[in-house]
Amino acid sequence: MITAAVIGCGRIADGAHLPALSKMDNVRIKYACDLIEEKAIAKKEKYPKIENVITDYHIALNDPEVDAVWVLTPNYAHYTITMDALRAGKHVFCEKPITVSYALSVEMADEAAKQGKILNIGVCNRYHKSVETLREWVAAGKFGKLYHVYCSFRSFRSIPGLGGAFTTKSQSGGGVLIDWGIHFLDLILYILGDAKIETATCDAYSEMAKDMKSYKYRGMWAEDTSDVEHGTNDVDDFITGYVRTDKSSISFNGAWAQNLDKNEMFIDFLGDKGGARLTYCGLFEFCNGETLETEHPQYDIPDMYLCEDRAFVESLETGVKNRSYIDNILESMKLLDALYQSADRKEEIRF
Ligand SMILES: NC(=O)c1ccc[n+]([C@@H]2O[C@H](COP(=O)([O-])OP(=O)(O)OC[C@H]3O[C@@H](n4cnc5c(N)ncnc54)[C@H](O)[C@@H]3O)[C@@H](O)[C@H]2O)c1
Repeated sequence: MITAAVIGCGRIADGAHLPALSKMDNVRIKYACDLIEEKAIAKKEKYPKIENVITDYHIALNDPEVDAVWVLTPNYAHYTITMDALRAGKHVFCEKPITVSYALSVEMADEAAKQGKILNIGVCNRYHKSVETLREWVAAGKFGKLYHVYCSFRSFRSIPGLGGAFTTKSQSGGGVLIDWGIHFLDLILYILGDAKIETATCDAYSEMAKDMKSYKYRGMWAEDTSDVEHGTNDVDDFITGYVRTDKSSISFNGAWAQNLDKNEMFIDFLGDKGGARLTYCGLFEFCNGETLETEHPQYDIPDMYLCEDRAFVESLETGVKNRSYIDNILESMKLLDALYQSADRKEEIRF
């Protein structure tokens, strides 16, 4: 039995990890912690497995019964809470992105190694059957020479929580690239077979909500954190880039908001023997360059959060590190950092 503390009782706790942990017979949720006590109390009412509500996460870290903590706070708080937890001898599941910079991410990885603890990152999409199948097909040579990957993560006017933590760089580390792009770029590096980056070029734009008060939107998920009167919006709402890796080149466009009423979320893998479009994040189609036929593999789409939480707990029980272990995610964080540097400096970053 693993005794857990959940730190941060917002959307991802409610929409993903509390339901998952509630389904796991080998997990006890001793604490739910949030700076805003009412949020933690509301979760305790909704998820009866939660035993105690706290507002100071150190209480959980000082409790010898707690084996592991789930860090589900805004990005800027990932580093401090994770480092405190590791130093207190706890294993950590930390939501994506690792934190707001590559340098701090490396410190977190070093601390996990030093303390001999498991530190997994929330790369839930790595648990899709489609992703695993594509990774296997790439390794088996089904695409032939896989020369390029293109991806789009573009949506119509849906900046999250305008003026709040999501759009304040000091709290989020960036905008659509760090929030959505991380999922797509991490998947690409993973599917290509743990590709290593060689160069990164990027341009970032913040055009759609320059005047926050007059910004028009269809949806604003995270709306409860929005503060268009007094808040900040200093992050990218559109991003475009080009990356060379030791496997394939990658190009991408991402938009939290655009003046096109489209929601285009996909990754295209282009090989000389075959190509595939992975629709984010579910099924994919594969076009065979020899037969000119297109396959549509069908399978159930799993609950990826339940899969990643189960995999984390299994790691704690076996001591075996898995695909979400921080060392396996650092390359994606290095890429994000390089892309933002390239956008700031208006030059290509080389490794
Ligand atoms: N994997 C995914 O698909 C996915 C999806 C959404 C969000 N996320 C990530 O999850 C994290 C949280 O996002 P969210 O949408 O749930 O945000 P949220 O704002 O809804 O919730 C965060 C909560 O953390 C609390 N908090 C902040 N600092 C704290 C502290 N020191 N101690 C205790 N509680 C604290 C806040 O009060 C808030 O209730 C972000 O890093 C985000 O990138 C991942």
